[in-house]
Amino acid sequence: MSGDTPSDVEARARAWYRARHSAVCDRIEPWAHGSIVRASRFPDYFEFNLVRVEGDPGLSARELMELADDALAELPHRRIDFEPIEPADRVRADFEAAGWEVTRLLWLRHEAPLPPGPDVSVEAVAYDEVADLRVRWNREDFPDLDTTAFQIQARELALAQDVEVLAVRERGEPVAFAQLQRDRTTAEVTHVYVHPDHRGNLMGTALTRAAVGAAGSVEDLWIVADDEDRPKELYARLGFRPAWTSMELTRLPS
Ligand SMILES: CC(C)(COP(=O)(O)OP(=O)(O)OC[C@H]1O[C@@H](n2cnc3c(N)ncnc32)[C@H](O)[C@@H]1OP(=O)(O)O)[C@@H](O)C(=O)NCCC(=O)NCCS
Repeated sequence: MSGDTPSDVEARARAWYRARHSAVCDRIEPWAHGSIVRASRFPDYFEFNLVRVEGDPGLSARELMELADDALAELPHRRIDFEPIEPADRVRADFEAAGWEVTRLLWLRHEAPLPPGPDVSVEAVAYDEVADLRVRWNREDFPDLDTTAFQIQARELALAQDVEVLAVRERGEPVAFAQLQRDRTTAEVTHVYVHPDHRGNLMGTALTRAAVGAAGSVEDLWIVADDEDRPKELYARLGFRPAWTSMELTRLPS
């Protein structure tokens, strides 16, 4: 929106992130510096079962781990999301030393017009048409984790939320996909994945462009990237601009 300050845009990114929890979770309970967020129907979906840190807790990594142990006691994973980045940066190294996975997330908002795109054909497909690609992506990210339960839960939720899926085919088979989720005013490109054999051929660019087009004229269109990896450059080339930096800390099930 015109006249937005950076803090207005960051506040809307944070509001969208919290709204995703509110739409799915059956329990969101306050603790001293944030909320405990739980979705009992989707226990293997880390994004909806976590400790949300909303302010500066001033706690050590050990104290935060104990809090997560209490809050998520019956679950095999642990997950803490920090909304403010500074306190997260202070404890990050201790979490990494304890074997947690740490991802610094950059939330980007679509603000500049799309540049001309590559000649790659993108089509809307059903959720299940890219099931193999979803499994492959999970294996890339979590090679030692059985993500079957997560895949089932993610599918149920995505179908209930009417997500839109776009794909690029090669000899009839989908080799890359993007996924878009929306409500009345806001949308997010939640997934962009290209089969490793097809990377660097502008499919990711074509899919992200198509997802921006499919989102239409929403007030905010978000995409979230690893702040320490390359795809954020791709999104920047397509008109996405940094809005907010957060951090997620995960201890995978053993
Ligand atoms: C990121 C990804 C979708 C890009 O798809 P792509 O078709 O290879 O991308 P394009 O050919 O359109 O554009 C190239 C850009 O993609 C990114 N990219 C390309 N290969 C990549 C790779 N192996 N790993 C990470 N990013 C890569 C870079 O930004 C690259 O630009 P650069 O060369 O200037 O760094 C693809 O690499 C992928 O599926 N990665 C794994 C899943 C993932 O990280 N998804 C994004 C979540 S935010």
